[in-house]
Amino acid sequence: MKEQSINIIYTELESVDELDVADTYLLAKAAEASNNAYAPYSAFQVGAALLLENGEIVCGNNQENAAYPSGLCAERVAMFAASALYPGVAFKTIAITAKSKNFAINYPVSPCGACRQVMAEYENKGKKPMRIILKGENGKIFVIQNVSGLLPFAFGSSDLGPDQK
Ligand code: THU
Repeated sequence: MKEQSINIIYTELESVDELDVADTYLLAKAAEASNNAYAPYSAFQVGAALLLENGEIVCGNNQENAAYPSGLCAERVAMFAASALYPGVAFKTIAITAKSKNFAINYPVSPCGACRQVMAEYENKGKKPMRIILKGENGKIFVIQNVSGLLPFAFGSSDLGPDQK
């Protein structure tokens, strides 16, 4: 028996002033996308902006539904749209932010487990680390260098056997 540990390295930034121009722009696109969220039930408007290896930026926002589980998070809207529009193009960086008319979001918004699972698959498919930038309306920003920093031990196609791809 052996106790193991996993070390997750991420960068904590005090404000957008510490980001480079490209990351600042991507976060601005995520904030812009949050304006178009359809979130009448939670009033939690999330925006995601995904930079692809070909330089394109694909945005998404959460889309809710009266039948709650039928809705989808901003991150998956962006990732699925990107894969539909530019199949096979690797994902470089995703910026995520949120706002609400009901309360201030003073912490970096973190993707749900299902979105992390989807990120893990596309990162693996793209064969390149996918960076993740998390921000609220105010407060700190977290930058994580790859998806395994968010989802260690992710389930993947290789878990389905050698012939599954
Ligand atoms: N949501 C996202 O879009 N992304 C996240 O990272 C967390 C949660 C959405 C789902 C739902 O529409 C609302 O936020 C409240 O959970």
